[in-house]
Amino acid sequence: MFARSAPRREAHSMKWARYEGRDILPMWVADMDISSPVEITDALQRRVSMGHFGYAKPWDGVLEAICDWVAYRHQWTIQPEWIVWLPGVIQGFHAAQKMWGRPDRATVVQSPNYPPLRRVTEKYQHAVVHVGSALSGNRWRTDQEQLHHILQQEKPSLLHLCNPSNPEGDIWTAKEMLRLADICAAQGIPVCSDEIHADLVLDPMPHSPVGAQPGLNEQSITLMAASKTFNVAGLACAFAIVPNTQIRKTLHQVLAYETGEVNELGLVATEAAFRHGRAWHGALLAHLKDQRDQLAQHLEGTSIRYHPAPATHLAWLDCRQWAVDPAEHFEAHGLGLSDGKDFGSPGFMRLNFACGTDLFQEALQRLTQAIAQAPLT
Ligand SMILES: Cc1ncc(COP(=O)(O)O)c(C=O)c1O
Repeated sequence: MFARSAPRREAHSMKWARYEGRDILPMWVADMDISSPVEITDALQRRVSMGHFGYAKPWDGVLEAICDWVAYRHQWTIQPEWIVWLPGVIQGFHAAQKMWGRPDRATVVQSPNYPPLRRVTEKYQHAVVHVGSALSGNRWRTDQEQLHHILQQEKPSLLHLCNPSNPEGDIWTAKEMLRLADICAAQGIPVCSDEIHADLVLDPMPHSPVGAQPGLNEQSITLMAASKTFNVAGLACAFAIVPNTQIRKTLHQVLAYETGEVNELGLVATEAAFRHGRAWHGALLAHLKDQRDQLAQHLEGTSIRYHPAPATHLAWLDCRQWAVDPAEHFEAHGLGLSDGKDFGSPGFMRLNFACGTDLFQEALQRLTQAIAQAPLT
């Protein structure tokens, strides 16, 4: 099912356009070179064949599909009225920043982090404190002790979480979430959690949504989407889950006239994905896990240190032994990765391994060449 990559070079793909005319495999932005399931393309084709595209109103079926999926995947019972539509998750964490951020009280953000989230305070000139990460049990993880200390000492106005984390691909355990919820509830700190990668947990570990935590459900925004998992990010459709009525009202006010409505085709894809995508999703996770494990094997004993992560299709590569700029060196060897310095960690590179077997095997060969020719410090 995943032997051949989607022919994205032929479409208007941001990922492929970056290296147009150059022999560089794009393994940077976090979308997939994998075709969406036929259940989605069929639903889209049915809708497109109607031939009219006026303003749309989200319908009960798509809300039900989300509620059922979140219960099935994350054991969280949510109500349809808790859902607030967004064109993208980025708009969701920006809205949270506008609602809760303050110039004189810190916003807490993990680092390294997805660049737009790491820099979310800049536009509003709000104070920020970054929580670092450390190797723990052979995994890159947010430093929990440092985070607890900051939350207790700084009395921040807001905590942004990215869980599963991008770029590290780590997830929080249920116990860690409970502890976090206790602290935030006691301190009255609202939490906005970017959980866009929640359905890409490759190992048999549960994902714990922030909004499902007893202490946090009344003071949180949980952001999710079908976009990453089903490769429909270009259809611009995401959602916030907000159990608290007042927070929901404020969020609607902040979003009004700024973000615009979600695209109807995005709603169609979301409904089809969550209603009919379970089998395909299971197969996708197995494929990604297999490629993650092959990558780990391939890099073992080399000058790149890689600790396979339980979630996401992103590999966080430590290239600090190299005496060359890793981004330039990879490009010179035909690989286009994301530069760790944009995430707050120079010397690291992020490799997106969500492609078919064909491109992945080609990438492994190029990786071997790149490693063999990298001068070391
Ligand atoms: C952690 C994270 N949040 C948000 C986004 C962007 O989401 P959207 O396109 O829905 O705004 C990405 C895309 O890579 C991401 O990795």
